[in-house]
Amino acid sequence: MHEGTDPRLLVVKRIDRSEFAYSQPATNAAAHTLKTLFAELYGASPAFYRASGRVNLIGEHTDYNDGFVMPAALDLYTYVAVSPRTDRRLQVYSANFKEKCELDLDSIRPGRTGHWSDYIRGVAGVLQSAGYSLRGADLAISSDVPLGSGLSSSAALEVSTAWALLSNSQFSASPTEIAKMCQKSEHVYVETRCGIMDQFISCHGRAGHALMLDCRSLEFELLPIPQGVRLMVCNTMVKHEHASSEYNTRRRECEEGVRMLAEVLPGIRALRDVTLDELEKHRERLNPVIYKRMRHVVSENERVKKAARLLEAGDVAAFGRLMADSHRSLRDDYEVSVPELDLMVELASRQTGVYGARMTGGGFGGSTINLVDANHTEEVQQKLAKDYQEKTGIKPVILICEASGGAGAVTES
Ligand code: GLA
Repeated sequence: MHEGTDPRLLVVKRIDRSEFAYSQPATNAAAHTLKTLFAELYGASPAFYRASGRVNLIGEHTDYNDGFVMPAALDLYTYVAVSPRTDRRLQVYSANFKEKCELDLDSIRPGRTGHWSDYIRGVAGVLQSAGYSLRGADLAISSDVPLGSGLSSSAALEVSTAWALLSNSQFSASPTEIAKMCQKSEHVYVETRCGIMDQFISCHGRAGHALMLDCRSLEFELLPIPQGVRLMVCNTMVKHEHASSEYNTRRRECEEGVRMLAEVLPGIRALRDVTLDELEKHRERLNPVIYKRMRHVVSENERVKKAARLLEAGDVAAFGRLMADSHRSLRDDYEVSVPELDLMVELASRQTGVYGARMTGGGFGGSTINLVDANHTEEVQQKLAKDYQEKTGIKPVILICEASGGAGAVTES
């Protein structure tokens, strides 16, 4: 959560869509606040960039298996204000951590320190090794994406920083290239072997749409979110320390499974290439844990493809049933859920007006995504918050979000 916000406070964010359904939210206010801060810190007038957090509707832990995902960019952003320096230093202020740090562009080395500046150091390091010779810069960063909530505040930070550093040095790169460089920086400087989903949607999001991405070819399809359906994100306010190491373990298990099956299915490169029938046929070759991990990924890929057609047809109820299957598979086969996520999903599934609910993102805490009938959002929000708090003693943060546009420059006026 942000500094200065009581994380145990129920935050209910309402957006009146009656007049401007799916329009981009106004950005000037956030940029204006950052402008004042920037002037105080550096006595200069900056340029502004932003990138959004994301929610994934379906397709979890499939991206690093060359599979399919269906995220939407959220109207929650990380803003970066930037102005050039004449030397080779980066001065970075984080409004969320209320902390400043300094980096030397000539002495960036791979590896994790655990400090928030790893994300900035990582992006700068990867951009430079890709051949973008960066100028020094003063930066101030402020984010609305709640940290540790499973809404990908990291990708929003990486992508907005990349955009700012490139533009500040008079370079431009394609959104896909930026997404790939940001993913690499997370591998090398944060040491999480994440897939491409979060950075890709942060770069390519489109207002009012989810995006079905083929994580092997990086081809994507924009899918309008049906009118009358709202994205409700419920943050359980629980986050487990071991999330990142468990994530890397799951990834290794999948790779191990592919190696084992490749002995009988030559030519497979990733779990994307395996069908459920093949998996069943060769089940006895696999250890039971690896088999379960693989069953999740293979079945989840099938669900994403079905879900895309259902969304297109406007069959949100059937889409919601696939979300329920996805959650069960993540809980029982992939084992990345936690009791608080299961409870939030279970409570939501009992509510009138909820089409579907599941955990979203890497798991081990964080948020659920709920597709909710617009006529029921308020009562669902109130009821879920009350029931969850009664059962856990934790006040959740429940947001009704819009699918928003991708990263880029922001004009402050
Ligand atoms: C995290 C990673 C993504 C993806 C999800 C799980 O958000 O950053 O690449 O693997 O977990 O779907």
